[in-house]
Amino acid sequence: MDSRLSARALVELLGLWRTSEPAFDALADAIRLLCLDNRIAPETALPAERELAAALGVSRTTVAAAYRALRSTGHIVSRQGSGSVTRPLGRTTASRWFDRDGIDLQQASPPAWPGLPGVVAEVAAAATALASRSGYDILGHAELRAAIAERYTRQGIRTTPEQIMVTNGAQHAINLLAGTLIRRADRVLIETPTYPHAAETFRRTGARLVSVPVDVADGWDLDRAVQAFGRTRPILAYLMPEFQNPTGRSMTETERAVIGRAAHDAGSVLVIDETTADLGIDAPPRDGLFAGHPSAIRVGSLGKSVWGGLRVGWIRATEDMIRRLRAARTSFDLGTPDLEQAIATRVVERLDEILPQRSALLRSGRDALVSAIERALPGWSVPQVRGGVALWVGLGAPLSSALVIDAGQHGLHLSAGPRFAVDGGQERHLRIPFTAEPLELERAVEILAESWARVTAGTSVAVTQPALAEALV
Ligand SMILES: Cc1ncc(COP(=O)(O)O)c(C=O)c1O
Repeated sequence: MDSRLSARALVELLGLWRTSEPAFDALADAIRLLCLDNRIAPETALPAERELAAALGVSRTTVAAAYRALRSTGHIVSRQGSGSVTRPLGRTTASRWFDRDGIDLQQASPPAWPGLPGVVAEVAAAATALASRSGYDILGHAELRAAIAERYTRQGIRTTPEQIMVTNGAQHAINLLAGTLIRRADRVLIETPTYPHAAETFRRTGARLVSVPVDVADGWDLDRAVQAFGRTRPILAYLMPEFQNPTGRSMTETERAVIGRAAHDAGSVLVIDETTADLGIDAPPRDGLFAGHPSAIRVGSLGKSVWGGLRVGWIRATEDMIRRLRAARTSFDLGTPDLEQAIATRVVERLDEILPQRSALLRSGRDALVSAIERALPGWSVPQVRGGVALWVGLGAPLSSALVIDAGQHGLHLSAGPRFAVDGGQERHLRIPFTAEPLELERAVEILAESWARVTAGTSVAVTQPALAEALV
């Protein structure tokens, strides 16, 4: 049976969809974007026209015209008994909407550290000893937990191996924390824009998200943060204080102090996602982030610093919290694969040698991307980022979705600003990862410049008649 998307869920996913006229085109484009981003899975039944029209406050004719447009581009089909169902994206479909070749910058994922195959070979050579163990290892290998704890201690956060749980990447850690700590209708404070899979995880557990804006130029909105902590007393606050994804901003001392105090006063657990924290380019990462908050839970990963395919991350928390997570984990999974943990142990021990190499790689990507944008798209605002994986570029007009759809038709796949928004908006921003090769990034900017010209001139097929007079103000 197809899975069914309720009108309410679709309205939430759509956010501020009405960025151009006519409305049916804007609605069709917004649904296409959700399919491209995989936020609407293939084989999902969309809400009936009448329900969606009521939920969106538009006429049924508008929704009917949008569904017709989606059928004509092959995004949905009408199926007996299910109504309008989304189709899988694949190259077998004739439509160019489905061409997945080209440059994919939807994920900000650097290539594997070049030394990794050597480490894998070393570990494989010692496989007999590794495979002699039996039973399940829910917490993770003692040596790996010791290596991770030792790194924290060197960074000014005294940590014992008992305070570490090894996970299958940071996303798994976030999922485990959400499933263990959050009950339906609990408030969770989260930055906007943010890392979208974390927001999705918290939403799925039934949390109500309370957002605090992070501006690429001005940083964290401290008034809003203090108010949000005081008013809603969130059970948990999920933050990325260093090289925030997607803005690349790092919290100042003041921002950390104010947010830390507000969280403490509200009794909220701080969940600090450090997945990008090691990725300094111009400056070494700062030591001891939120070191004065012993109950803060930290989530780390080798996903960006070494390789996303390794799927090794961790949680650092109090011993009590680790015991609680251990008890809860068995309903999620029974531990991280042994081979990957053995590889990760050797890699964590060598991180001081690996990180400068990552920094050089990210620097060449960032510098190539910044100069290509400044040359080809001088009207865009390009932030100065000192680390992380992406630029959060200001477009000067609310055309991010339209641009991403047009670029997608010309072989460049990106995620539009609203993908990172917690409660709609962000149409004036685009995240461009600099994790790809410089030549590929330069080609991506050429495609973007051509798409931008079409989108702003109103000649893009992605935006039939944009309300440009309004959009470009
Ligand atoms: C901020 C942040 N947290 C977590 C993750 C997920 O990391 P992992 O690959 O370790 O699951 C990512 C990956 O993009 C990320 O950017």
